[in-house]
Amino acid sequence: MNKLIEFDEKNKVFHLHNDKISYILSVEEGGYLSHLYFGKKVNGYHGQLRYPRVDRGFSGNLPESLDRTYSLDSLLQEYSGVGNCDYRTPALDLQNADGSFAARLVYQGYEITAGKPKLEGLPAAYANADEAQTLAIFLKDEISGVEVTLLYTIFKDLAVVARSAKVTNAGAEPVELKKVASMQLDFIKQDMDVISLPGAHANERHIQREAIGQGRKVFESRRGASSHQMNSFIAVLEHNADEFSGEVYGFNLVYSGNHSFEIEKDQFEQTRVVAGINDYNFSWHLEAGESFQAPEVLLAFSANGLNEMSQNYHELIREHIVRGKFKHQEREILVNNWEATYFEFNEDKLKTIVDDAKELGIEMFVLDDGWFGHRDDDNTSLGDWNVYERKFPQGIKHFADYVHEQGLKFGLWFEPEMISIDSKLYQEHPEYLMQVPGRKPSPSRNQFILDLTQKAVHENVVAQLSALLDGGFIDYIKWDMNRHISDVYSVSLPKQRQGEVYHRYMLGLYEILETLTTKYPDILWEGCSGGGGRFDTGYAYYMPQSWTSDNTDAIARQTIQYGTSLVYPPSVFTAHVSAVPNHQTGRITPFETRGAVAMSAVFGYELDLTQLTDEEKEAVKEQVKTYKAIRPLVQFGDFIRLKDPAKGNQCAWMFVSRDKNEALVFVFDRLASAQPTLTLTKLAGLDPAKNYQDQKTKAIFSGSELMELGFYDPVKRHDFTADMYHFKAVTD
Ligand code: DGJ
Repeated sequence: MNKLIEFDEKNKVFHLHNDKISYILSVEEGGYLSHLYFGKKVNGYHGQLRYPRVDRGFSGNLPESLDRTYSLDSLLQEYSGVGNCDYRTPALDLQNADGSFAARLVYQGYEITAGKPKLEGLPAAYANADEAQTLAIFLKDEISGVEVTLLYTIFKDLAVVARSAKVTNAGAEPVELKKVASMQLDFIKQDMDVISLPGAHANERHIQREAIGQGRKVFESRRGASSHQMNSFIAVLEHNADEFSGEVYGFNLVYSGNHSFEIEKDQFEQTRVVAGINDYNFSWHLEAGESFQAPEVLLAFSANGLNEMSQNYHELIREHIVRGKFKHQEREILVNNWEATYFEFNEDKLKTIVDDAKELGIEMFVLDDGWFGHRDDDNTSLGDWNVYERKFPQGIKHFADYVHEQGLKFGLWFEPEMISIDSKLYQEHPEYLMQVPGRKPSPSRNQFILDLTQKAVHENVVAQLSALLDGGFIDYIKWDMNRHISDVYSVSLPKQRQGEVYHRYMLGLYEILETLTTKYPDILWEGCSGGGGRFDTGYAYYMPQSWTSDNTDAIARQTIQYGTSLVYPPSVFTAHVSAVPNHQTGRITPFETRGAVAMSAVFGYELDLTQLTDEEKEAVKEQVKTYKAIRPLVQFGDFIRLKDPAKGNQCAWMFVSRDKNEALVFVFDRLASAQPTLTLTKLAGLDPAKNYQDQKTKAIFSGSELMELGFYDPVKRHDFTADMYHFKAVTD
C-alpha cells in the first residue's frame, strides 16, 4: 500500500492523506502541536502554510520565549492542556498531586504503523494493515510526568480520520483527571453552521441546524447513555452547504455513555471543537503507572455536502464497525409481539401469530417483554431471567421449538442492566442496585440500574444469559434499556474514585457484550433503549442492528429515519409496520405507506397478524415478497437523502447499488391538497450515461434525465401516501 502518512523532518509537519482527504499538523516552537489543515486532498504540501505570528493584547506567551507574537491563546492546536494561557476550551484538564491544574503537553516523538490498533476495553473502528495506517504522537508534561498519546488513523479509501487519546501517568505522584477529550479540531475563521441530532423518547434524532456564534455551545448527554435527547454526533459545515454541496466536517463518538461536543468560537472568530466523554460528574484517579484510554471520534470530511459525509459514515460503520457473521448477511424479516400483545399473552396466543407469520412468509418471531419472572406489567421481575411458567407451562424452549418447526427463527427480549425491587435478584442481592448510600434511589418505569462496575453483577448477568443461550434455541436477542442512569455511586469503589462510575459502568457493559457476543457468535443482537436511546456507533460494534425508535408511526418515522441516516446506514436500523390508529400518535396511515417506510431499513412487523383482514394479509404477502427482492439494495446499497421532511410536505430518499445498475426510490407526501402544487423528484448517485427502466411502467430514462430533469410526482387525492420506484439499468 502507498504511504498514507508522511513526516517532513525539516518542517516538522505530518501529512496524512489518501485520494480524498489531507490532514496536516505540525510541531511548533516549544513542541506544541499545531493544526494546519483538514479537508480536500492536497498534492505536495511544501510547508508554506503556517499559523501567522501576531502580537495580541491579553493573549500571553510562552514562558521560555519573549516573543510576544506567539501565543497558545490563538494558535490552532491539536490537543490543548489546561492552564497554559490558552483560555479556550481545553482537551485535557487535570489536577496534579500539588493541587495545581496544569498540563503543558510537549511533543516527544511519533510512530507510524500499518492498520489500526485496538483501544483497550472500548469499541472502535477496525482495519487491516492494507486498509489503513496509524500515526501515534507522543506528548508529555515534564513536571508531572503525564504523557498523552494521540492516535490518528487514516483509511485508504474513506474520507475519514479516526482520532483518540490516551493519558498515562509516568510520574511518581497520582493525578486526578478532570476531563480527557478524545480529540480537538481548531478551524480558522469561517462562516459555519453546526448540525446536531436532538430528540426525545419516541421522537429521536431530528436535524437541528444553527449558525455558530461567538462563545461556547455544548451538545451533550448526562444520562449515562448516548441518549434519545442528543445523539453522539455533530457536523460543522459551511453556512451555504446542503445535501449535495459545500464543505462538511462530521464528528461521531464511538461511545454509548455520557458524551459532549463542545464548540467555541473565540475572540478572533476561530472555532474549536472538542469531543469526548462528558466531564459532568467525571474524574479519574490515575495512580503512577496507570493509563486512561478515551474513546474514539470518527472525523469525516465531505467537499460535496451532507450526503457524501453520510455515505462515508455508512461505509465505515458497515465495513469497519459492525463485526461478526451478520456483517454482510441479509437480515431476516421479523414479527415482534410487543405492540401486538404487550404483556397480555400466553403460548397459545403467540402460536396463532407464529402460524400467520409462517403463512405470510415472515422469517423470524421475536418474543418481547413479559416472558420471565412473573411479569404481567412493567413493575416486576427485571433481573430474574427464568421463564414465567403461567405463560409458558412447558418452558421457553418448548415454544421456541414450535417456532422453529414452522420454519421461523426465534428471538428473545432481555433487559439485562436492570433490577426490579419485586424480584428474586433484589431479595438476594440488594447491593447490586446502584444507589447513593443513605439516599433513596429514583425509580424510572419503576425500575433501577444494576451496578455494572461490580464484578459480581457482571458475572451474574453473563451467567443468567448463558444459562438460556447455552440451550442453542435462541437465534436473536433484543437487548433493551428502559431508563437512564441516576443515583450514581458504586459500593465497589473508594471515595476518590466515585467520579469514575459513569465510565466504569460503560466499561462493564462493553465487557459483558464482548463476552457474550464472542461466546455466541451465531446470535444476531439487536440493540434497543426504549427505541433509539442508545443508538450510537459504539453499540453498533456489538449489535449489528438497533431499534430506531419506539415511535412506529409512518409519518413520525420519516423524520426520525431521515435524521438517523445522517450517520447510520439503513442496515443498522430497524423499522416495523404497526397497527393503526398508531399506538404513539393515534394517526391512521395507509398500509402501503407504513410498509414503504419500514422497508427503507431492516424490515419487520409489530402488530397482531391474526387481526388483519384478508386484504391486509395479501398486502403483507406482497410487501414480504417485495422486501426479499430489494433487501440487498436496501441493506447494502448507497443511501441518498433527496427531500427533507422538515422542509415541506414531502420526504424522499433512494438506494443505489454499488455498480449503479439498480435504484430504488421512495417519495412520501403528507397532506393532499384540492389545488396541489406540482412537485418534481430529481434523483442522485446514478450513472448519467446509463439508461434506466422503471420496472412498473417500463418507461426508459437516462441517468442524467433522472438526475437533472427528474419526474413529476403524481397528484395526491388522500393524505400520507408513498410512491416507490424501482429502476434497473438497461443496455439499449
Ligand atoms: C422498549 C422497547 O423499545 C420496546 O420495543 C419494547 O421492547 C418495550 N421496551 C418492552 O418493555
